[in-house]
Amino acid sequence: CAAHRVTVLPGDGIGPEITAVALSVLEAAGQAEGETFTFTEALIGGAAYDATGDPYPDATYRACADSDAVLLAAIGGYKWDSLPSASKPETGLLRLRSSLNAFANLRPAKVIPDLADASSLKREVLEGVDLLIVRELVGGIYFGQPRGFGERDGEKVGFSTDIYSESEVERIAHVAFKAARTRSRRLTSVDKANVLEVSQLWREVVTRVGAEYPDVELSHMYVDNAAMQLIRNPRSFDTLVTSNLFGDILSDEAAMLTGSLGMLPSASISNDGPGVFEPVHGSAPDIAGQDKANPLAMVLSAALMCRHGLGIPAVAGRLEAAVAAVLASGVRTGDIAQPGKQTIGCKAMGRALLEALAAPVAA
Ligand code: NAD
Ligand code: IPM
Ligand code: MN
Repeated sequence: CAAHRVTVLPGDGIGPEITAVALSVLEAAGQAEGETFTFTEALIGGAAYDATGDPYPDATYRACADSDAVLLAAIGGYKWDSLPSASKPETGLLRLRSSLNAFANLRPAKVIPDLADASSLKREVLEGVDLLIVRELVGGIYFGQPRGFGERDGEKVGFSTDIYSESEVERIAHVAFKAARTRSRRLTSVDKANVLEVSQLWREVVTRVGAEYPDVELSHMYVDNAAMQLIRNPRSFDTLVTSNLFGDILSDEAAMLTGSLGMLPSASISNDGPGVFEPVHGSAPDIAGQDKANPLAMVLSAALMCRHGLGIPAVAGRLEAAVAAVLASGVRTGDIAQPGKQTIGCKAMGRALLEALAAPVAA
């Protein structure tokens, strides 16, 4: 069958290092299932700004729009932190998501028993944790108008607007209820409806959509309590649905349940075009270029791409099995280092994954 057309955006910092690993294991896992890929690399973030003056050049948009899926590593770094908003790598990433209408960001966090001791929390709190954060990705305070800087009472002010329309909440709610149906049918909607009008609308619309899913148990929780409950009793959650900003914060928190930000993948789904698949973590400038990055979140994002973006779940299964096998074999990158386990670099982790993929699979 025809090759799957993937636009690859390595970006900045550790991005190129983890991308190299992900592409090599994707090729290998695809080959085992008779699937092939064409990878088209394009510029985004700081790398794009340096080369073209634009963190999301039109050529990158066209390559993404004309592909079956987009695989993104990470953007950003100290070098670009003081640029004006329009030139920032982060703005490039937000424009990418928005231009592809990738509104539904799925961030699963599942504790791998082998890694429970790599977390800062106790093993007995973590065992069995398997949750999914559904984060609205192209609205809310990240995109609301008005925003900017101004003056009040003779001093400078900065302002941003948190705003959602009914249809924006409806479409993310439908994704979340449907996702909950494939899991244990419990959905927690997270908001700040005790204070914010935008959250009151969110709660009203999610409740209304919920009437169409009587088989899913819906509850509402304030975000401050949700942040606490995620640490106190993470097993109490199954599927969560929340706004852009709250989802950003809660997903980094959920990452620590799995041991490291370097383990958490994500899928950003659109209703009418290619999805964007990217790790939850950033460009990790503190370890970039040192062969220390954990490529597993990126590899697991490639697996989500195979399952949700390309319709080749068997390739996804092979990638996920290879990650599990490598962790079971006892090797770790520095971020998930454990006493008694061997610490290896990003490239060596890539080689270990290729070996696991080549090993005969139990029937
Ligand atoms: P970060 O996620 O890059 O790093 C936070 C910490 O986690 C660092 O100590 C880093 O070394 C570690 N870490 C992250 N990923 C890792 C991995 N794969 N392996 C090992 N360790 C890992 O967040 P930050 O430091 O707050 O931000 C750095 C830059 O990344 C900023 O410019 C930020 O805007 C950007 N960022 C980009 C994305 C994205 O591209 N989706 C996401 C978050 C942050
Ligand atoms: C993420 C990141 C981005 C976000 C930044 C880099 C714009 O933190 O993907 O979680 O806030 O969405
Ligand atoms: Mn984030």
